[in-house]
Amino acid sequence: MDIIYGGDRITYKVIGGVIDLYIFAGPSPDMVIQQYTELIGRPATMPYWSFGFHQCRYGYKNVSDLEGVVAGYANASIPLEVMWTDIDYMDGYKDFTLDPINFPADLMKKFVDQLHRNGQKYVVILDPGISVNDSYGTYNRGIQADVFIKRDGVPYLGQVWPGPVYFPDFLKPDTTTFWRDEIKQFRDILPFDGLWIDMNEISNFITSPSTPFSTLDNPPYKINNAGIQRPINNKTTPATCLHFSNITEYDVHNLYGLLEARATHEALTDVTSKRPFVLSRSTFVSSGKYTAHWTGDIASTWDDLANTIPTMLNFGLFGIPMVGADICGFSGNTTEELCRRWIQLGAFYPFARDHSEKNSIRQELYLWDSVASTARKVLGLRYRLLPLFYTLLYEAHTKGTPIARPLFFSFPEDVNTYEINFQFLIGSGVLVSPVVMSGAVSVDAYFPEGNWFSLFNYSDSISVSSGKYVTLDAPPDHINVHVKEGNILAMQGEAMTTKAARMTPFELLVVVNSNGNSSGELFLDDGEELEMGGSEGRWAFLRFHGGRQRNNTIFVASEILNGGLDLSQKWIVDKVSFIGLEKAERLKARELRITKGSMMNGKPVVKARLDSDSQFIIIEISGLSLLIGEAFNLELDLTVKNS
Ligand code: NOJ
Repeated sequence: MDIIYGGDRITYKVIGGVIDLYIFAGPSPDMVIQQYTELIGRPATMPYWSFGFHQCRYGYKNVSDLEGVVAGYANASIPLEVMWTDIDYMDGYKDFTLDPINFPADLMKKFVDQLHRNGQKYVVILDPGISVNDSYGTYNRGIQADVFIKRDGVPYLGQVWPGPVYFPDFLKPDTTTFWRDEIKQFRDILPFDGLWIDMNEISNFITSPSTPFSTLDNPPYKINNAGIQRPINNKTTPATCLHFSNITEYDVHNLYGLLEARATHEALTDVTSKRPFVLSRSTFVSSGKYTAHWTGDIASTWDDLANTIPTMLNFGLFGIPMVGADICGFSGNTTEELCRRWIQLGAFYPFARDHSEKNSIRQELYLWDSVASTARKVLGLRYRLLPLFYTLLYEAHTKGTPIARPLFFSFPEDVNTYEINFQFLIGSGVLVSPVVMSGAVSVDAYFPEGNWFSLFNYSDSISVSSGKYVTLDAPPDHINVHVKEGNILAMQGEAMTTKAARMTPFELLVVVNSNGNSSGELFLDDGEELEMGGSEGRWAFLRFHGGRQRNNTIFVASEILNGGLDLSQKWIVDKVSFIGLEKAERLKARELRITKGSMMNGKPVVKARLDSDSQFIIIEISGLSLLIGEAFNLELDLTVKNS
């Protein structure tokens, strides 16, 4: 179908099928998405590690090339969580095989084992097209189980990377068994942690000969295909192909990626008994139940950098919150400046992966000093915010709300936010305002009403009494990221892996607001348990509230809402920072009290930071060692002298 949006109307030009039209009444954007994902399925859980930084490239040459990249990140002290291989690792581009010369099984196994010892992960690509070759096991087993899409009574012959291919029919129940068994066999050779499913639109390098088998192959209306009207069979499986129980490709074409994602998600769950990670290029309504998504082959250009933001936000609204774009761009050569700006933005994509095309220059983040140093800074903040990303995943999984959200999501009453395409929110109150233009060293960023604080230093703040654009400095190594008053963020430390970051103590950042009721949430589990919030005793969900009370006390308290995970001794809060206290009054810390909860031999130190050009005071209580597993209440009395 073609869907044409005309500002005040949407036109659907359909060439078949039945339309089920639903209206989600909201009324808020948040409620619309909750209602929509209740119908189509809530987003999948994702492992904790998938929020780390990923590195990929089409064109890695051999195992030592891969090792060099891993070492490059380590030497530059840039966190690398997941190493990927594209189709290069395969033998003749055949799924479930390894190139015996450049990526031999023994060396690859050693490589992946070493990644695992480093606390890192490994993901491989799979394409749907199975090479037609009777000395290839997967092909033979596929023929045996009769899993391929057919046309005119025989498997349909397409053409992709390996040359002639047949495509598995994921509508057929036997195909999911075939696919699972192939994945299992391959994983016994190479213990990968996640799967990347590509080319599943289905992408075909040939357009099958023009004589139509029936009108399905040549409907009178030509739909728009990549910008122009083209024949329906253009570079895909022909519409007259047949799936399980004689369903035509014409009717299920758009479901291929969804069904492959479902089969792959189930296979990984079955084979690993861990929470699966699947990344798919093709998606449809409901894909979010099974897979993460990246935005495909974008170019290394400033326009494409900017466009990744609305695209990412759209996918969040489609119920696919784990989304990102190829950092530094995929095709064409990136530049140092573009790559620097791209990692500044990409560090805040829910799914953050650097990926590039074979014929383009290399673009690992350590290759330029300026990119490396900005990467350390922004990924440092991302890793401190991992507990937030992960708690938002839990929210997405239970309610459908996106991780990265358009501004109107939190501020629907502010109509100025409706058209904002280049800024976005992480959750409800962290605002990211990237540079998306070459040469720019400032950004005009929109701030909805209230006080906002830089997450890089807490002291740079923006206060607006009604929403407005503010010009912010954005020097080459900086991206603006602000948190709004009223939020409490539970943050952890920076580290080279998410596993190491997850073990560090928590800092609670209490962003005080005028009515004294800031709040925040935290979801905790082991990060790979199949369900999130499933089995009793394996997870916990905490709520914090805090702020300033009328009696000149600032406080933060926690409540363990449910889950029952044994948190004893596991995590502590070692620092509480209060920001957003007005400097107009001279505040001095008087007495610190912990009226509920347990401290493990901490020696709290209270410090107030007064930055001369800021209108706010920062009060930091460090040296705490408050058990996060018990509800606590921490209060600090202040002496106030009005100046
Ligand atoms: C197309 C994908 O979109 C791209 O990311 C990948 O590198 C190539 N296929 C090669 O597998």
